[in-house]
Amino acid sequence: MAKLLKATCKSPANIAFIKYWGKADPQTRIPQNNSISMCLSNLYSLCTVEFNSQLRKDEIQFIKEKTVLTEEIERIIKVLDRVRDLAGIKLKAKVVTQNNFPKATGIASSASGLSVVTLAACRALGLPIKGKELSKLARLASGTASRSIPSGFVEWQKGTNESNSYAIQIFPPEHWQIADVVAIVTYKMKKVPSTQGHSLAHTSSFQKTRITGIPAKIKAIKKVMKAKDFAAFGRILEKEALEMHAICLTSTPSILYWSPVTMAIMRQVQTWRDKGELESYFTIDAGPTVHVICQQKDEQKLAAKLRKISGTERVVINHPSLGARQIDQHLF
Ligand code: PMV
Repeated sequence: MAKLLKATCKSPANIAFIKYWGKADPQTRIPQNNSISMCLSNLYSLCTVEFNSQLRKDEIQFIKEKTVLTEEIERIIKVLDRVRDLAGIKLKAKVVTQNNFPKATGIASSASGLSVVTLAACRALGLPIKGKELSKLARLASGTASRSIPSGFVEWQKGTNESNSYAIQIFPPEHWQIADVVAIVTYKMKKVPSTQGHSLAHTSSFQKTRITGIPAKIKAIKKVMKAKDFAAFGRILEKEALEMHAICLTSTPSILYWSPVTMAIMRQVQTWRDKGELESYFTIDAGPTVHVICQQKDEQKLAAKLRKISGTERVVINHPSLGARQIDQHLF
């Protein structure tokens, strides 16, 4: 009997502490700056890929997704094509994929969704690719997907070309007991996809200044992460999120990712801190979802407070997690 060319993988979303915003090369997704992130334990994608000689074309299925864009299907087929090229085969594949969170709302669905397909396709064909090589392959599908390959706390080193732009682990998941308490405020997909946002970054007159300041910021955040200095870390985190959104707001056309609920949460987080009630800091990717970072000892209190804010749809507590990995249970 022919060997079954099938594998299932799980890959986390990640939250950026220092953001990737603006590409040096859109084709190969080389970023303009290094970025730093954490893999999230409770927001993830699952994916089963099977290559099969019976198939005439690639079949892509999303479980429990109302809207699937043609562009999303095409991006997955491109991943399959890259992996087929590496393996030197032409077999078509069936892909079934599932996120446990709403996509395109400011949780990195392209990070988890495209890193998981990349790994599952490689494993289905028995390709032993891992580490930096796997991160580079995932980067070609989605920039932030490169950061969902290593475990824990991660730095994507921008590099200068195709072969030296990849993510590496800077600290393992157990290094620091912090939590990302995610407040989902809408289930609607955002209007401006991040690909478009990246391409507009250069139209902001502040982008040059931002890019010049990034190396010092990366150095500073790594230092406080190493020392586990939560207050110093939080100050950098919030300022950085606001800086990325300042680029969005001052791009032409301007992009405003926040909703009124996003802003209400930002204000509350600062008020709780000012009053000495709870120390947490917000960060926001390209969408209205707010990621509130606290120490794990405070996570339940924070989650309860976030749930009480009118307009919060769902709250998900995340710890630093493993990166993309193979699992046993297939989706079909
Ligand atoms: O991979 P993309 O194109 O979805 O980039 C999104 C970038 C941000 O999430 C806004 C920031 C980051 O570094 O994750």
